[in-house]
Amino acid sequence: MTAIHCLNGPNLNLLGTREPGIYGAATLADIERDLHERAIRLDIALTFRQTNHEGELVSFVQEAGRAGAGVLINAAAYTHTSIALRDAITGTGVTAVEIHLSNVHAREAFRHVSLIAPVCAGVIAGFGPYSYLAGLDALAHLLRGRTPSAP
Ligand code: DQA
Repeated sequence: MTAIHCLNGPNLNLLGTREPGIYGAATLADIERDLHERAIRLDIALTFRQTNHEGELVSFVQEAGRAGAGVLINAAAYTHTSIALRDAITGTGVTAVEIHLSNVHAREAFRHVSLIAPVCAGVIAGFGPYSYLAGLDALAHLLRGRTPSAP
């Protein structure tokens, strides 16, 4: 069975009340529930985790690597700052897809840079909670060898 770990970074536990004009009204629990439903339909073993701590996010990536799982990651602010997270992705060799609720490229300049995008298979941003569902589909296709790798 294909295994995917969905990893969530800092402040995503505040979804629902956090800047709803940007992030919407759905809570992280709502997103987790919908993602689990889709994972069941796709026959994917899904693990869903959130942390506010950079080192813990690094450990989550390492655990996914040891479990042979793919990584669907919304690293939140650590997307833009964390060399450690990038090194965890390359160091474990996990197949990762980066996701964001908001369209980071339409926001502040510091959000236009992702330190992890170059070591992820792809990036999905700007579709609200649907970014998670689209990311799960894309990662499942990759892990099942149905999407050709980029040149
Ligand atoms: C985010 C975008 C990041 O820039 C921000 O720091 C977040 C959320 C998103 O899902 O849109 O915390 O990753």
